[in-house]
Amino acid sequence: MAEDRVRIFDTTLRDGEQAAGAAMTGDEKLEIAKQLEKLGVDIIEAGFAASSPGDMESIKRIAKEIKNATVCSLARANPDDIDAAWESIKEAVHPRIHTFISSSDIHMKHQLRKNREEVIDMAVAAVSRAKSYCEDVEFSPMDATRTDPEFLYALVQATIDAGATTINIPDTVGYAVPEEFGALIASVIENVPNIDKAVISVHCHNDLGQAVANSLAAVKAGARQVEGCINGIGERAGNTALEEVIMGIHTRKQYFQTTVGIDTTQIYPTSRMVSEITNFPVQPNKAIVGTNSFRHASGIHQDGMIKERTTYEIMDPKDVGWVGETMVLSKLSGRAGLRSRMEELGYTLDKEELDRVFKSFKVLADKKREVTDRDLEALMAEDRRIEEVQGFHVESVAIVTGTGLVPTATVVMTTPDGEKRTEKMEGNGPVDAVCNAVVCIIGVQPKLDEYSVRSITQGLDAVGDVTVRLRHEDHIYTGRAADTDILVASAKAYANAMNRLLALDGNEVQGEMQGV
Ligand code: KIV
Ligand code: ZN
Repeated sequence: MAEDRVRIFDTTLRDGEQAAGAAMTGDEKLEIAKQLEKLGVDIIEAGFAASSPGDMESIKRIAKEIKNATVCSLARANPDDIDAAWESIKEAVHPRIHTFISSSDIHMKHQLRKNREEVIDMAVAAVSRAKSYCEDVEFSPMDATRTDPEFLYALVQATIDAGATTINIPDTVGYAVPEEFGALIASVIENVPNIDKAVISVHCHNDLGQAVANSLAAVKAGARQVEGCINGIGERAGNTALEEVIMGIHTRKQYFQTTVGIDTTQIYPTSRMVSEITNFPVQPNKAIVGTNSFRHASGIHQDGMIKERTTYEIMDPKDVGWVGETMVLSKLSGRAGLRSRMEELGYTLDKEELDRVFKSFKVLADKKREVTDRDLEALMAEDRRIEEVQGFHVESVAIVTGTGLVPTATVVMTTPDGEKRTEKMEGNGPVDAVCNAVVCIIGVQPKLDEYSVRSITQGLDAVGDVTVRLRHEDHIYTGRAADTDILVASAKAYANAMNRLLALDGNEVQGEMQGV
């Protein structure tokens, strides 16, 4: 079974980053890559080297640091992209080039403007060039699920002959349904004479909500690599949620007759890290990693759980790294208590981090009677935001508002050069006034696409978690912050999005390279 296990190919840093508003800095990508290695994924698709100088740089850093997982770089089927991909990963212990070209009639006619022969020639040339650099080459016929099967078999056969060692069958537009997709994988195995020389991979998008089901159907049919992203982020409706595929195969190994080489206890910390870094919250009812995944509300279920856990739980929460909410901290808790709970939650803090977080913990504990695990996660997320995205920091927020008054906000911020700036602005509401003041200090005027606030815990003293999405020159930047005062959280979330805008501007995937 071990030999025949399913390889997990993570593309959070490439396809995941294509989700509108999920752009990450190089430091953040490296941090996620290290966590993915801890999780034990087989392949990390670190980016698309030709898409931007920022992507090239961050792939290079990941290639140097990551030792156990294969580091993969994406390339269109042209010489420049292949050369850039190799340049980005040549220092990796296990490098892989992943090249792709569209194969459906609809893409070839309208987007590529090439006929079938030309596409086969370009694919073969790209794989051969990639093979001249490295042994491990993956080829993807893009939009495979809408491709004429006979053409698909011919293209796959030709690229394996040219040296591809993994053949990925992407459901680029999320069109497939499980039975049909499983049958497509079975037909590739049956109709491509040299298929035994390559591993079959699948890459499913979630437009019809079938990405995980399609991937698992493909595994059942013989696919031995699954591509996807943590928390299912990705282009449009997202990509296959890897944590669901991993736990699906792990929990039902007898059914699938295969397994994965993953440390499942790292799933929850990885999910939380991706959510914190991308600022994409995980919905409470999300399978495997949602906060309600292991909560039993109904009396009958609770009764069953007390008598025997397996009556209502098919997975042990500990197996996915979920730490039950057993301990609540308060203002009387000390550093040791905080450190130990943080460790149980999967955070290893050095002395400096502990000092910082302990300070913010005390401020929070003064405002809240009980500090829960969700509050601690919010504190860590805040700390990461302050540490990682250099830029403007909110020092203080003061609001004057009330019936008959024009809401006015006075915001004090520190600039990246350490200078303090104060602005007093009016708005049509207190949040508007706060955001106007932040915009005035930073000096960039993006459009606010979305503002949302939710409470992290229950009760009137709950911490409010604010998410904002700002649009600037056709890109979306997400900012997030938490505070017991939602106006302070709003100012910090706005500043967080603006800092990301300043840090990422010019480094993003441009024009026709978007939306692979
Ligand atoms: O969705 C897709 O087809 C892709 C390919 C590059 C594999 O992301
Ligand atoms: Zn994709």
